[in-house]
Amino acid sequence: MKKRRDVRFLPSATRSAVFACLCVLALAACGSPKAAPEKRVPADAPYKDAKRPVEERVADLLSRMTLEEKIGQMTQLEKGSVKSGDVRTLSLGSVLSGGGGSPRPNTPAAWADMIDGFQDEALSTRLGIPVLYGVDSVHGHNNLRNATVFPHNIGLGAAGDAELTRAIGAATAEETLATGIPWTFAPCVAVARDPRWGRTYESFSQDPLAVSALGAAFIRGFQGADGTAGAAPGTGPSPIATAKHFLGDGAARWGTSLTGNYKIDQGDATGDDAYLRAALLPPYIEAVNAGVRTVMVSFSSWNGVKMHAQKGLIADLLKGRLGFTGFVVSDWGGMDQIDGDYYTAMVTGINAGVDMNMVPYDGRTFIQVVSRAVAAGDIPMGRIDDAVSRILRVKFEMGLFEAPKANRALASTIRSAEHLALAREAVAKSQVVLKNAAPSADSSAVLPLDPTAKVYVAGGAADNIGIQCGGWTMEWQGRSGPITEGTTVLEAIREAVGAENTSYEAQARFAERDRSAVCVVVVGELPYAEGMGDSAALSLSAGDIGTIELARKSFDRVVLLVLSGRPIVLGSEALACDAIVASWLPGTEAGGVADVLFGKVRPTGRLSFDWLKTVDQLPQDRFMSGAETPLWPVGFGLSW
Ligand code: BGC
Ligand code: BGC
Repeated sequence: MKKRRDVRFLPSATRSAVFACLCVLALAACGSPKAAPEKRVPADAPYKDAKRPVEERVADLLSRMTLEEKIGQMTQLEKGSVKSGDVRTLSLGSVLSGGGGSPRPNTPAAWADMIDGFQDEALSTRLGIPVLYGVDSVHGHNNLRNATVFPHNIGLGAAGDAELTRAIGAATAEETLATGIPWTFAPCVAVARDPRWGRTYESFSQDPLAVSALGAAFIRGFQGADGTAGAAPGTGPSPIATAKHFLGDGAARWGTSLTGNYKIDQGDATGDDAYLRAALLPPYIEAVNAGVRTVMVSFSSWNGVKMHAQKGLIADLLKGRLGFTGFVVSDWGGMDQIDGDYYTAMVTGINAGVDMNMVPYDGRTFIQVVSRAVAAGDIPMGRIDDAVSRILRVKFEMGLFEAPKANRALASTIRSAEHLALAREAVAKSQVVLKNAAPSADSSAVLPLDPTAKVYVAGGAADNIGIQCGGWTMEWQGRSGPITEGTTVLEAIREAVGAENTSYEAQARFAERDRSAVCVVVVGELPYAEGMGDSAALSLSAGDIGTIELARKSFDRVVLLVLSGRPIVLGSEALACDAIVASWLPGTEAGGVADVLFGKVRPTGRLSFDWLKTVDQLPQDRFMSGAETPLWPVGFGLSW
């Protein structure tokens, strides 16, 4: 019956309609999908037996599924678009929270209740296939209020410590699992090649080998070396990570984006096969070696063709030659960008090797269109079976069938002393001292500061958790202000030297001051994410420059802390400060900034990106080829 209805959707008077009828007949004749699915699945069905090999369970379950159930597994919707009953009636395979997609109230229990609710629906379906929930835990469980927020990847690149990154992966898995979520869309293994890109901070480094090492370390930490992080048997599923965005997301050229007013994000990367293999592919080879279970496709294009349509790269290279056995998820409506015609876009994307579609809004249309395409023979049944097998394989491997519900006991790990200490350590290790001069011939270098002396603090970013966390924190774009618990840079300085020894004035308009004391000015970029952060100028704000100017007039010694998601153009006023530290986007635990500033921790951070003098020097390739000389090269960082 259903098959006949599918045929009605076919465009009339086309050859494909005729072809479709033939296919429907052929499908009916070979009995797949089953005309009448068994109403009750026997309790001893092989797929329900955890002792059987995963591949046997996959094959058994697949053989019992209708076409609609299969396409349902390939469908991922944003939680805001999932109405009560949808997980059940659409046989949904996956639900996600987009950036800022938190429940109200934003508490661990509310997250777990929400996701367990979706799970109850999934478990009550005929086959009882658990739903897989995903979220962007990209620097800690950053959508959960009062989670531990770690430095963004660019800071971890500066720290350059694989063991630290592994530990952060494991801590992030615990806090994410505690809310019922076993899947993160991280790590981003972009090799960013132009700091004007609004996602540069999601990139560990401009060096593909550094990205490979840190990306793999995060994956091992999040998934557990043996794929069982955070999960004692029976207490919850073991978590899975995502290497994203395949391929070349960070290599797009300025001005090539076709998305809204974006300039480079989702744009076009160009090059030959040798460049692709040397500069863009290594992190995926390492991610696959580390056992990553999912890969997300990039919004960007490669040589003018959207990545979601690149069969040669997704199906042939990633799944074929690299031997990736997990599943490929699209980016947010990413397949839609392949073609203006939705049918063509879905057919092309799925045939290129996308297994699960992050739809994310209208699941019904997606499911109808794919059914139609299968009936018409435009998507081979074998491709659907491959996609569903991959998704089911991962669900079985994770133990999701045996432990589908939230592991609420892990709630005690959220902002635990251990996680806060780890975050603080990461922040300290990520600080890069770019300049440390002596203000006069007879004095010594400004840093480290004397913890017993009075400190003046200025700058709009000094006392702002939202700015120091950046994008992808509580909201998609992040937000300036007290958005979550944590320690600001100002608070950290107060802790280090005592509140009585600290004086703060955002714009450095101190009523009383001691010229010979040190003034620490904290400037930074306002939060942004994705293409909203594409920036032509990469400059400090006029307000920040004014504050630096006033501080320099008022004090003999000025230390500049730059809180940014990337190298920015500092300009003469900023460069004239006695000391300059790149603090990146440290997250909630700025204690680590003060640890370096006051000499508790020796600075070991090194630039993972060349630091530009002016935007005219970009793109980064020109530093790499030697055509331009950076202000400070990759690998640079002072110590004492
Ligand atoms: C969502 C993000 C998503 C973005 C894509 C936002 O509304 O919150 O998760 O990445 O849309 O455009
Ligand atoms: C981003 C992805 C993210 C997804 C879900 C997209 O807009 O590009 O990195 O995982 O949204 O939030």
